[in-house]
Amino acid sequence: MIGVKIMFKGLWNNSKKTRVPSNINMNSIPKHIAIIMDGNGRWAAERMLPRNMGHRAGVEALRDVIRTASNIGVKYLTLYAFSTENWKRPDSEISMLMKLLIEYLRKEVEELHYNSVKIQTIGDIEQLPNEVVKEIDRATTKTRLNNGLHVNIALNYGGRSEILNVIKQIGREIRDGKIQVNEINEELVETLLYTANIPDPELLIRTSGEIRLSNFLLWQCAYSEFWFTDIYWPDFKGEHLLEAISDYQNRQRRFGGI
Ligand code: FPP
Repeated sequence: MIGVKIMFKGLWNNSKKTRVPSNINMNSIPKHIAIIMDGNGRWAAERMLPRNMGHRAGVEALRDVIRTASNIGVKYLTLYAFSTENWKRPDSEISMLMKLLIEYLRKEVEELHYNSVKIQTIGDIEQLPNEVVKEIDRATTKTRLNNGLHVNIALNYGGRSEILNVIKQIGREIRDGKIQVNEINEELVETLLYTANIPDPELLIRTSGEIRLSNFLLWQCAYSEFWFTDIYWPDFKGEHLLEAISDYQNRQRRFGGI
């Protein structure tokens, strides 16, 4: 491979080094990358496999992407794993997704912890099955003091419902005389979002050729750069993440200015 250098940053074992193409500027790696992992079902259908196999392959893809993000110094990776709309799927698929999540957390948490990854979630976690809540609790508690990559798993997450929760909370605070209407500003809203204390994503990636946000991080993506690819999520690798970052680094971000 021409024009590559090998990064040794991070603690992942030697077989898991990340080759970074020379066109990537290591000084402007996005701090926060959000990913809509789409196309598991179509990946499976193309192979005449059940949809569940697509989700399983999706978990494999996740490993490589997390490792790469960690190795190149991304600080936050937010992954859309289960939306508020995904409850419309057949019960068998929902329970398979929950099972996969439990399995993933049980199997991976040690390695993630060893590599200083902090696991967090965004979304209405309490509505998930007890066993899932328990496993999330175990993983987030174990990794809570880690200061490497923060992996935010969006579960039972919806952008509109997140914003509605903020509106209701502000309503309650006004009713109780804790704040005045003229004190409502962007900073206040941000402290009440699931992503309080997390910077907005500079880059949002969606796989599988769909070009929409699907209720993901509606407030937070106001100025994010979007990168879409036709690749189905199970085929998405660290190298594609690097491709997206390289593309992002060639964009001009003006935030409404000139
Ligand atoms: C979209 O593909 C994917 C999902 C709804 C779930 C994403 C889940 C995983 C990658 C695995 C579990 C996650 C964790 C964090 C362990 P789709 O089913 O909508 O695909 P389709 O549009 O081709 O049907």
